[in-house]
Amino acid sequence: MSLIDRIAALETEVEKASARTADEVEQFRVSMLGRNGAVTELFDAFKQVAAEEKRILGQRLNQLKQAAHARVDALRSTMEQDGVTEGAALDLSAPALTEPTGSLHPITLVRQRIVEVFSRIGFTVSQGPEVEDDLHNFGALNFPPDHPARDMQDTFFVSGGIGPDGMALRTHTSSVQVRVMEGSTPPIRTISPGRVYRNEAISARAHCMFHQVEGLYVDKDVSFADLKGTLDHFAKSMFGPDVRIRLRPSYFPFTEPSAEVDMSCSICGGSGCNICKGSGWVEIMGCGMVDPAVLTNCDIDPTVYSGFAFGMGVERIAQLIYRVPDLRMYWENDMRFLEQFTAAPFRK
Ligand code: DAH
Repeated sequence: MSLIDRIAALETEVEKASARTADEVEQFRVSMLGRNGAVTELFDAFKQVAAEEKRILGQRLNQLKQAAHARVDALRSTMEQDGVTEGAALDLSAPALTEPTGSLHPITLVRQRIVEVFSRIGFTVSQGPEVEDDLHNFGALNFPPDHPARDMQDTFFVSGGIGPDGMALRTHTSSVQVRVMEGSTPPIRTISPGRVYRNEAISARAHCMFHQVEGLYVDKDVSFADLKGTLDHFAKSMFGPDVRIRLRPSYFPFTEPSAEVDMSCSICGGSGCNICKGSGWVEIMGCGMVDPAVLTNCDIDPTVYSGFAFGMGVERIAQLIYRVPDLRMYWENDMRFLEQFTAAPFRK
């Protein structure tokens, strides 16, 4: 084959060259431009060419060499764009690269689970405003005008301050009880999840914003036994069939009688640990029979109807499930923390 034909053949070869991996690009480069490469060989052959042919052939040969270099560069840059790394073959059957998806916030997961448990036994979900008036947050719930909970130390006032004209960030979701009772006639079975605010110094154990779920059941002949049965069902659905609850007498202005609900410690099973401070019991909520005065305030006749109510902190329930040691972690939005809660470890 004449030199000119060999040049022409290599020109076509360079033009058609392709590579799937960085290794293949390198093989191509060596086969053309390496010490024993095809182009390099032609330069050796060129030395024998007659003087009068040198000018024309020299030019073609130089062009071929440049084209080979350009082809190597082009192949390399496509490798980089495709992200094909050294030695890795392009695997067309590999799963597509996907964007990372987010996950639900642990407090959302726990709230959803609480809602699910109560929905199954006929409770609806109701909501109320976070900026609330004095009547719904305090007055209708039987808080006397001088009750310490109305104090500046607990309540974030938005306008008006303490008194009937005051507007404040709600300090509990019990305000939604009032809104639901005002607008409907029994039977009422509802839970009200939501954010609440209190003027507390932020620490590992307290926050100025947290979440509660309020529960309310009003009908004819609702008894304290109904309350206890409902809460026992809730605790077992949430934490397993082995947990027990106990009710301790307590006081809330809007319930009579009132109780604090303890659950056998879900972490140590009741034998005593640092979460239950060695007692085997953890407090999970407040509850009671709706005070007849509250029913009257909401235009429900207490001689016909009775009801029970309860209120729990979602962060508290979450703490017993996830054992997060510091409440502040929930609201710092640190991805390293949030990424861990991809699925709720709940019983089905
Ligand atoms: N509202 C109370 C609190 O924030 C919790 C509570 C206790 C709600 C007893 C209730 C209840 O409905 O009956 O501490």
